Amino acid sequence: MILNTLEDYQKLKTAHLSHPLPLFDSVLMAAPDFFEVVYAINPFMKDKEGRLNQVDKAKAHREWNELVSVFSKINLKTKTVNGVSGLPDMVFSANQSFPFWNPQTQRYEIVLSKMRSPQRAQEVPYFKQFWTEQGFVVHELSYKGAFEGNGDAIFSPEHGIVFGGFGSRTDKEVYEELSSRFNLTIARLELCSSDFYHLDTCFSILSKDTVAIQPDAFSGEGLSLIRAFFDRVVEIPYEENKNYFCGNCFSPDGKNVVTQKGSPTFKNQLEQLGFTVWEVDTGEFMKSGGSVFCLKLFYPG
Ligand code: ARG
Repeated sequence: MILNTLEDYQKLKTAHLSHPLPLFDSVLMAAPDFFEVVYAINPFMKDKEGRLNQVDKAKAHREWNELVSVFSKINLKTKTVNGVSGLPDMVFSANQSFPFWNPQTQRYEIVLSKMRSPQRAQEVPYFKQFWTEQGFVVHELSYKGAFEGNGDAIFSPEHGIVFGGFGSRTDKEVYEELSSRFNLTIARLELCSSDFYHLDTCFSILSKDTVAIQPDAFSGEGLSLIRAFFDRVVEIPYEENKNYFCGNCFSPDGKNVVTQKGSPTFKNQLEQLGFTVWEVDTGEFMKSGGSVFCLKLFYPG
C-alpha cells in the first residue's frame, strides 16, 4: 500500500505500527581509496566559482577511519567493500542497495538500485556481490527508471514501513513496484529542493517517535505524513542543514546520534532531547554532497 496523504495514513493507522521487527545492528561501508570529485551531479560538488571541489585524499581517509571508529564505539558491526578505481562515489554506500523486510518470506532482503547518473551505475554490481556472499536474497527491479536505494528509501523496522523519498534521484513510480511486488507499506515523500536531493539529506529517524527534518525540502503532503508518524519532529534550520548536513545524521539505536561537527543549533536540539551526540568531521565527503548517513548502509547483519 502506498501512503501519499494524511488520509491514506489514517486508513492504515490501526493495521500497522504495532509490528516491531528485528532491528538493524551493522553498517556496510565502502573504502575511500578512490574517492574524489571528478564530475558534478549535485550542487555541492562545485565551489563558488563553478570549479569541481578538490579533495584532500589523506584527510578523507582520516575522516573515514574516524567514522568507522565511532561506529564501533556505539556497538555497530562494520563490514567494508573495497573501493574501485574510476568509481569515486562508491564510498557513499547508502545508495546502491535497499534492505527491507519481506513480509512474504519473513526475512530481510535487498533490492538493488538503478542509479540516476551513468557515472554511478557501475557501483551496483559490487554491492550485489557483497549481499550474495553474505547470503541475502537480492532482487533487481523491473522498473526501468531511477531508484537510489537507501539514499531515498528508508525501511524503519520500528514502524514496519518504508519512508520513500522521490523527486530528484528516485522516481515516484518505483514505489508502485516495491509496494505491489513485496507487499510493502510505503509513505511516499516528495522532495522539492535541489539542495536536498536525497531523502537522507533532509530526513533522519532518531527514534521511533523522533525524526529530524529540513521542512522546506518537502512538498505535497509529505510534512503532514511525517508528523503523523512521529510525535517529535526536530526542525533543522535550512542553512544549517546545507552547511553541516544535519539531516544526514544517523542514529542506530534511538540514543546515540552521529553527525557532522560544528552545527550551531542542531547539536543543542539533540542534546535537549537527551540524545548522546557524536560529532565527526566529514568535510571532505561534504565536498561531494554526502556525510554520515550516506557513508554507510545500515542493515541487519
Ligand atoms: N556525490 C554523490 C552523489 O551525488 C553523493 C551521494 C551522497 N549520498 C546520499 N545518500 N546523500 O550521488
